[in-house]
Amino acid sequence: MEQQISVKDHIKEYTRHVWQTDSETAYSEKIKLFTLQSKRMTYALAVLEEGHICHLYFGKKVVDDDLSYLLRLDENPWTLKTNRRDQGTIMDTLPFEYPCHGTGDYREPCFKILDKDGMSACDIRYKSYQIYEGKPKLSGLPATFAKENEAETLELVCQDKHSGFLVTLLYTVYKEVDVVTRSVIVENIGDQAVNISRVLSMCVEFDHDELDLVTLNGSWGRERMMERSRLHHGKQGIDSVKGVSSHQNNPFFALVSPYANEDVGEAYGFNLVYSGNFFAQAEVTQHKKTRAVLGMNHFDFNWRLEAGEIFTAPEAVMVYSDRGIGQMSRTFHDLYRNHLIRRQKMERPILINNWEATYFDFDTEKLLEIARQAARSGIEMLVMDDGWFGQRDSDNSSLGDWVVYEKKISAGLRYLVDEVNKLGLKFGIWFEPEMVSPDSVLFKAHPDWAIQIKGREKTLSREQYVLDFSRREVRDYVYGMMREILDSANIEYVKWDMNRQLTEVGSLGLPAGRQREIWHRYMLGVYELLEKLTADYPHILLESCSGGGGRFDAGMLYYSPQIWCSDNTDAIERLKIQHGTSLCYPVSAIGSHVSDCPNHTVGRVTPFQTRGHVAMAGTFGYELDVTKISEEERGMIAGQIEAFKKHHHLMKDGDQYRIGNVFADQMWDAWMFVAKDKSEALFTFVQVLGRANYRSRRVKLKGLDPERGYRNMQTGVVQSGAALMNAGVNVGLHGDFRSEQVYFVAV
Ligand code: GLA
Repeated sequence: MEQQISVKDHIKEYTRHVWQTDSETAYSEKIKLFTLQSKRMTYALAVLEEGHICHLYFGKKVVDDDLSYLLRLDENPWTLKTNRRDQGTIMDTLPFEYPCHGTGDYREPCFKILDKDGMSACDIRYKSYQIYEGKPKLSGLPATFAKENEAETLELVCQDKHSGFLVTLLYTVYKEVDVVTRSVIVENIGDQAVNISRVLSMCVEFDHDELDLVTLNGSWGRERMMERSRLHHGKQGIDSVKGVSSHQNNPFFALVSPYANEDVGEAYGFNLVYSGNFFAQAEVTQHKKTRAVLGMNHFDFNWRLEAGEIFTAPEAVMVYSDRGIGQMSRTFHDLYRNHLIRRQKMERPILINNWEATYFDFDTEKLLEIARQAARSGIEMLVMDDGWFGQRDSDNSSLGDWVVYEKKISAGLRYLVDEVNKLGLKFGIWFEPEMVSPDSVLFKAHPDWAIQIKGREKTLSREQYVLDFSRREVRDYVYGMMREILDSANIEYVKWDMNRQLTEVGSLGLPAGRQREIWHRYMLGVYELLEKLTADYPHILLESCSGGGGRFDAGMLYYSPQIWCSDNTDAIERLKIQHGTSLCYPVSAIGSHVSDCPNHTVGRVTPFQTRGHVAMAGTFGYELDVTKISEEERGMIAGQIEAFKKHHHLMKDGDQYRIGNVFADQMWDAWMFVAKDKSEALFTFVQVLGRANYRSRRVKLKGLDPERGYRNMQTGVVQSGAALMNAGVNVGLHGDFRSEQVYFVAV
């Protein structure tokens, strides 16, 4: 055994000799081991003598430093070093940390190039490493962050000698959460340009295929529906090729043990911190092993890297839980609340948004009427949604003309905002900065600023085109207009919307050889503008949105602490949407409002109380004409706001426990928020459909301290946490769509 080279708190590096003893000619392979430890998790990898980086282990904590036996180097009479003859077979079997295309590994690769000779094979080998405290920023990209004492980073520098690439694999491990984040930096150290045609962010290999794949799929109005299926031979996965992370598939997936549920079993969660095209795949190989990969989608992608240039791949987050899917979610929530959402601590005023109240039919007086009534009910902010600019009376005009529509906002924006402020309300405003309407002044002046292919007809969607945010002049112009508006009045919230996907994806600002870069350059442009906006207006609360929840991803959360979750505001539909969303994202980020009934999307009528309880499992606010709802409902608003404010810290900082699962049982749903110190908890139950001959349902609570007593603040009854969790509570079934909320305090 060689001497340990360096010891840090969470990442260790060793060099070992693995002896191959049972073959005729014994030999030793000198391998380098890296072990990353967090509280309950271990991630280990090895560098073989020939420089190949292999995955060893990702899972429940093991304290051993040497897990190299997992590579089975001593089982086979052949390794890359000893058996040139069968190198191809070995390459197709080894578990790689960052597999490349073209040298014998036929499973899904992470990295592929097109070099000056038109060749695509690539072979990256280990060169050197670095371990340091903290975590580096990723240039131009959103990413998790950590202070020096919160995380440790391992950098593995690899090289493809033939093409002159340096590929640096970054791994960060956190002290408090069972997470490894990964990214990849590619540097062209040669003297010729090379094309990158694929650069994924993460690969992890499992030695078995006994795993279920969990994904979040959907559509407009039903985002992030949870789906679970057993892995089978071959490739299975999800992606987006729409230019946004999309309604259809979220850049999240989990691999869980087949017996895993909310509370038990192993769960591995993966999420990409990126808002554009992504690719996620699990592949069961010929030997019943599983390779999982995640990263930017390589479909229609090519990036020309000139000599000396650097390309950074987005960050992939890998979460491990040995306590079920619920703990996987809570780990994501903790990571994102503390290490991703930069504005997490911002105050979240209770807002009322006029979209479902008025759609495009509003003016100053109508907004002020809503604001007056809202103020009386205790609401704290009015958000003026779509329709205040250009000549926007419907969704077919004026995007790109960010000047006040005087017909509607007759005395000017400043007057409106001042009046709203005088009522004691803050003011927020809607933008869709990435878009342009064909009839706009902007488009007429700069038709070349839309994403397009020269000479080809542009596909319209919601009667609009997408602006080419890969171009600086386009971004600067749009931002200039936004600034004029933001500087003209006391605006304290911005809803940044994005209501269509990309088509005819080309840029009149890029040369032919760089056209396939536009998908990613577009996203980098969006991120740059979001960065500017948040830096220049640190007091503005930003909510992002994309036709509801079409861009609900970790990339956006870096800039906006909340995202509008879905245009479907029906409380019952929201049970599923919010359940699925909470698999990866914290409730403090889930935009959720009480809207009017019959619901505008599905026509369902639900009690006002239920709408309130469901919206409280999110950012909470209102999206209705408060002047038009019944006296009774209006009278309930103050109480709802009081309840939300009282319990908000539990939703914002506590642990979420999903109890019901409307995907499995459509009759009911329930969830809890529990303080980190387990001193208080909020339980919510929703009866979806009534049931004959049942007066109550027994529900077992979760997350409490079994040793402590808890007072039910409704009944005053004190019971042990053990009784509440193991025996359960009886919840009365009062009829369809009814809900109940109970607050428990430890005595
Ligand atoms: C999108 C949003 C809605 C609303 C409309 C306005 O659909 O999701 O909340 O802002 O745009 O056009």
